[in-house]
Amino acid sequence: MDKSLRKAVIAGNWKMNKTPDEAKAIIEAMKPLVAGADCDVVLCVPYVDIFAAQQAAAGSNIQIGAENCHWAESGAFTGEVSAPMLKAIGVQYVIIGHSERRQYFGETDETVNKRVRAALDSGLTVILCVGELLDQRKKGITMEVVRSQVKVALGGVSADEMKQIIIAYEPVWAIGTGETATAEQANEVNHAIREVIGELYNADVAAATTIQYGGSMNAKNAAELVAQVDVDGGLIGGASLKAEDFSVIVKAASV
Ligand code: 13P
Repeated sequence: MDKSLRKAVIAGNWKMNKTPDEAKAIIEAMKPLVAGADCDVVLCVPYVDIFAAQQAAAGSNIQIGAENCHWAESGAFTGEVSAPMLKAIGVQYVIIGHSERRQYFGETDETVNKRVRAALDSGLTVILCVGELLDQRKKGITMEVVRSQVKVALGGVSADEMKQIIIAYEPVWAIGTGETATAEQANEVNHAIREVIGELYNADVAAATTIQYGGSMNAKNAAELVAQVDVDGGLIGGASLKAEDFSVIVKAASV
């Protein structure tokens, strides 16, 4: 499968970290380090940091995204933010279905699908997260779990809309644990995800879809992971909070 058919994307997920001032400072530090990268560079930041992050990133190759969005356009959903609201402030990327949302905030494949639909309808690019729990890997059902997550999340998404979908395979046991999937494990599941996309759509859509790996990706292990044929960049948590480390990962995806 030809990697040149799709774009590598290195995206940071800051989770619940950094104030606007801190966001500005780290982006100023990152800008010269990631300039000229041969991959897309995205930082998904807390809602309150978006404005400061956009200002700091203006004129650079760093794009700013959000970490979630609701499925309704507006309404009585205290604490939520809608896709049209994100679009209105110039956000292009949004993470949907992160395992922390599933684990701590009751998100299901069905609500993930509704959020994906809403994001697409607003013209946003979705970073759709899927991945198995440790228990599921031990039981040998990783592929079934991930295949099903992908299928349900992409319900009602057309082949043309797949241009707005990036998939991030994030094994839950590897997130924030320092325990990374091996390059072989990451590639194996990413390959299976590409097969599902081929079944749902066609071989061209499968070949053109960016499928990232995420879970304790860092400056040391990134090069081996992103060199895998089915790994098109990464979704980075902890290491995206350090300018130097994040830039090493961006460079690893740029070769
Ligand atoms: P870590 O890189 O901190 O393991 O987090 C990965 C992640 O959840 C990115 O969305």
